[in-house]
Amino acid sequence: SRTVGRNADGVVAVGGIDVKTLAEEFGTPAYFLDEADFRARCRAWREAFQEQGDDADVFYAGKAFLSRAVVRWLNEEGLNLDVCSAGELATALAAGMPAERIALHGNNKSTAEIERAVEEGVGRIVLDSFQEIVRVAHIAQRLGRRQRVQIRITVGVEAHTHEFIATAHEDQKFGIPLAGGLAAEAVRRALKLDGLELIGIHSHIGSQIFDTSGFEVAAHRVVGLLKEIRDEHGVELPEIDLGGGLGIAYTSEDDPREPHEIAKALRDIVHRECDTAGLAVPRLSVEPGRAIVGPTAFTLYEVGTVKELPGLRTYVSVDGGMSDNIRTALYDAEYSVALVSRASTAEPMLSRVVGKHCESGDIVVRDAFLPADLAPGDLIAVPATGAYCRSMASNYNHALRPPVVAVRDGQAREIVRRETEEDLLRLDVG
Ligand code: LLP
Repeated sequence: SRTVGRNADGVVAVGGIDVKTLAEEFGTPAYFLDEADFRARCRAWREAFQEQGDDADVFYAGKAFLSRAVVRWLNEEGLNLDVCSAGELATALAAGMPAERIALHGNNKSTAEIERAVEEGVGRIVLDSFQEIVRVAHIAQRLGRRQRVQIRITVGVEAHTHEFIATAHEDQKFGIPLAGGLAAEAVRRALKLDGLELIGIHSHIGSQIFDTSGFEVAAHRVVGLLKEIRDEHGVELPEIDLGGGLGIAYTSEDDPREPHEIAKALRDIVHRECDTAGLAVPRLSVEPGRAIVGPTAFTLYEVGTVKELPGLRTYVSVDGGMSDNIRTALYDAEYSVALVSRASTAEPMLSRVVGKHCESGDIVVRDAFLPADLAPGDLIAVPATGAYCRSMASNYNHALRPPVVAVRDGQAREIVRRETEEDLLRLDVG
């Protein structure tokens, strides 16, 4: 499905357009997103989970990257959408995502956010605390609604990923622990409240995970809770959601699982556990963000300064940095990088790609080999920046956030335009 390749003259092209043409038209830094690849990944997820006639839904996690065009693509490809703020909800609704296909997340949803979601009729709100159970129930009741909800639990597995993005252990802000009977107590309370229709249990174990075993343990424990609920209350909750978190390849060292592998692993364990417990198999949903959008985009930078520090390394400064990709500074994330505007047969040199911000931690790619003849004006690309780069971009140093350009069949168009100095000054009303 990818449409990236190198022309005979060594210039990389995406979706039928070479990067020099793209840089001339849209400037740098910029994110270029392969729309065909995005759609193909949506289909791969949907088909993986819906094959064999199982009831299953794929909710794209909008936090990875959201825009109106993305919402339209999701809609056309039959995906649902997970949002975690009023802003994401507003974008989803503005672009025509039917409210019943939206799930609202968050550990501290405001009253206004809950009201908007209930009024619009979102398909589910994922409850994250005892207080929120009551809060959502009251708001729904006041609005004369019965809101479909899931309860997010922490199942206590250690996902092998960076501490900041692991979310299944108990000592953290998300979810209600299964341990100590807390999740069972949350279910007890939710079942009593008229404003709520408890439809299921939710678990998200973390992000950038390569191993299916954490998901399997989570599935096992979630089904265990369904069985406890059936035994105690005589109700079988009809849905479970096992969250997102499937890792992608940032460098050649990463070996990601495919959607059909994770679908099969989850389906097998859910079926097995439900058979053993005598439960009807619940409708399964998942919430991939990174695995759908991450690989579909790269960031294109222009090389500004090349500074060789003898005996150490060469610092390659680009025209962006931590304002368009905070992940290296924040998580020690690894990326690869390539010269894309020409071919080179020069020796590889140990390089560090850095941005133009006023911090020594402003690193885009910590260790990379780039050709020794790299020069100002060359274009370099960092792949796999579709997830959590534009969505976590900042205006640090009053940087103008880069555009996201969708490329498809030889056509390129901005789906998020580049910020301008007027955009910055518009907010500055002092
Ligand atoms: N569902 C829930 C409830 C989540 O909290 C998340 C991510 C997802 C789904 C999607 O996870 P994914 O499939 O994209 O891994 N900023 C970090 C990632 C934080 C993820 C937060 N929650 C990063 O840049 O790696």
